[in-house]
Amino acid sequence: MAFKNKILVTGGLGYIGSHTVISLIENGYDPIIVDNMCNSKIEALNRIEKISGVRPNTYIADVRDEEKMEQIFKENKIDAVIHFAGLKAVGESVQKPKLYYDNNIGSTEVLLKKMKEHGVKNIVFSSSATVYGNPKKVPIVESDPIGEVTNPYADTKVQIEYILQALAKQDPSLGIAILRYFNPIGAHPSGLIGEDPRGIPNNLMPYVTQVAVGKLPELNVFGNDYPTRDGTCIRDYIHVCDLARGHVLTLKKLEQGPGLVIYNLGTSVGTTVLELVNAFMKANNITIPYKIAPRRAGDIPECYANCDKAYKEIGFKTQYNIVDCCRDSWNWQKKNPNGLN
Ligand code: NAD
Ligand code: UD1
Repeated sequence: MAFKNKILVTGGLGYIGSHTVISLIENGYDPIIVDNMCNSKIEALNRIEKISGVRPNTYIADVRDEEKMEQIFKENKIDAVIHFAGLKAVGESVQKPKLYYDNNIGSTEVLLKKMKEHGVKNIVFSSSATVYGNPKKVPIVESDPIGEVTNPYADTKVQIEYILQALAKQDPSLGIAILRYFNPIGAHPSGLIGEDPRGIPNNLMPYVTQVAVGKLPELNVFGNDYPTRDGTCIRDYIHVCDLARGHVLTLKKLEQGPGLVIYNLGTSVGTTVLELVNAFMKANNITIPYKIAPRRAGDIPECYANCDKAYKEIGFKTQYNIVDCCRDSWNWQKKNPNGLN
């Protein structure tokens, strides 16, 4: 049964959510956004409208707010939920673990409760490659062990996965998809939406683009003595528009019938920090000053996906390569040096 009506997108004004909202609209869905704007700006909605010609119905509310969520489910005949809302900064989660457990697990619990009360059976959940911890082998497949993680952020993702897996067992009429994202980078090719971190970025690509735009003096490459081809860490960088399309393909899978599915969403290609920096310089003809700095605590040497399962079951295949990612990240940053304002 095709989902003809509405897809509730929690966290739909955020980085991955806003790109997914565009993909949903382009594929004939009617996204309804709920976002408390703790890490987003209302300008994202204006930009979504500019790109897609549609201004989705949007509620500025916290997913933990039961009354508000009741209102949203009452006012809209929702077919499925895509649950992006969550806090995602690893370092902050170590400093403020309770905030992370309350927000990430608390929002999921309220959402699942309201879904049940309103007979909404389908959910797509934003998990992360971080659930694999330090993988024993790469590329990582979905059946590899999860749970040996070392920070509260990662633990919230693991706990939510366990809740969803238990629910799927208990109620076979549910359609549940757990998507484990690798490293999303890039931006919409229009340059109108992209990643807009608060303060100094923690992640590599936004740091690189802020060096490129002159907001930061140089990049620190965290460690060049890892057992990899150039000594720097390997990650699986996926264009955010490919990731967004993965959600549409996942919805189509859930439309075919209930059950639990788990997919890695990455490119199946590992790229070192220095390879990414060089690709950025070449793609954009810009020099990125960098220096080798000590390793960052908690970093793992190598993390990249085997995405065969998503390809076989939902036809997921990336269309953008690392050069496209570097071009689109820079296009976004140079057009919006101060992010969304
Ligand atoms: P983001 O911070 O840009 O988007 C999350 C959105 O959720 C924000 O707009 C924020 O305002 C909103 N939000 C947070 N808590 C909320 C709450 N309680 N109620 C309502 N809205 C709330 O992050 P993103 O990069 O788009 O990530 C989306 C999801 O994907 C997150 O769950 C994140 O953990 C997961 N994820 C992200 C990455 C990544 O590298 N970006 C990797 C793996 C998984
Ligand atoms: C980080 C998070 C992870 C999360 C992922 C995607 C940590 C320890 N892990 O992982 O939980 O799922 O983001 O959001 O924070 N690097 C530099 N200089 C920088 C920034 C990064 O050299 O200024 C290096 C890092 O050491 C790493 C690589 O670049 O080797 C990628 O870093 P990052 O973008 O933070 O992603 P992850 O380390 O994969």
